[in-house]
Amino acid sequence: MKIQKSWNDSYERKENFLFYPSDGVVQFVNRYIRKRIGISEFIDLVDYPVIGLDAGCGIGRHVKFGIEQGFSMFGFDLSSVSISIAHDWLARHLKICDIANLTIQSSNYLSYDNAAFNLLICDSVLDSMPFMTAQETIGEFYRISKPGTYFYSTYIFKSTLGTSWDWEIVIEDKHEKNTIQSYFDDTKIYRLLEPLFEIVTIRLFSYSSNDNEVNGRWQVVAKRRG
Ligand SMILES: C[S@@+](CC[C@H](N)C(=O)[O-])C[C@H]1O[C@@H](n2cnc3c(N)ncnc32)[C@H](O)[C@@H]1O
Repeated sequence: MKIQKSWNDSYERKENFLFYPSDGVVQFVNRYIRKRIGISEFIDLVDYPVIGLDAGCGIGRHVKFGIEQGFSMFGFDLSSVSISIAHDWLARHLKICDIANLTIQSSNYLSYDNAAFNLLICDSVLDSMPFMTAQETIGEFYRISKPGTYFYSTYIFKSTLGTSWDWEIVIEDKHEKNTIQSYFDDTKIYRLLEPLFEIVTIRLFSYSSNDNEVNGRWQVVAKRRG
């Protein structure tokens, strides 16, 4: 409840008011799910229909993007404030999504049926919770997805962490104050995903600061094991 309040406070401050899809999600969908080859020509790379879940959807930018690609999309978030904005934006204003598809849930205990989805998106979320909750979440993602489901996720990186795989802090800065930040190296990502999802690609996008610290974000495409 305390973490949920911290996320609600963050959204009340209009943090993570992100209306456009991330480059990584656009590239992932175009490369693995539905490739655009013309003004109205597409190649479907997975079996249809695509039933997608944006886990930790925030205000719903990737739910919207998935709907625009022709997918049935669902989204959930721990924050009632972000879900209320998603309802206003996608259901009431744009009228492209049912309110019932956007729900308040914690990722480690989900209401969906077994094998309900064949697309999973989880952008900047599994690093916003304790590692143990992330491990429980991956178990739930395995349960609710079909064998072979493509799963896109991202994770924050900081070079000064060394090789510690369980490094996590409570954020003290104003942005996302009192939420958890769990930093990842590649070993920690493999440890989280590989038992249940096979990693297809893992890429680190990084930038250096003046003090030689390297910060960045991992983009990972994985596939649910059979
Ligand atoms: C950095 S924001 C990213 C939001 C969204 N994925 C995006 O890319 O716009 C992290 C999100 O994770 C959500 N979150 C954190 N822990 C969660 C949990 N256990 N279950 C569901 N959502 C969670 C937060 O409420 C927040 O909306």
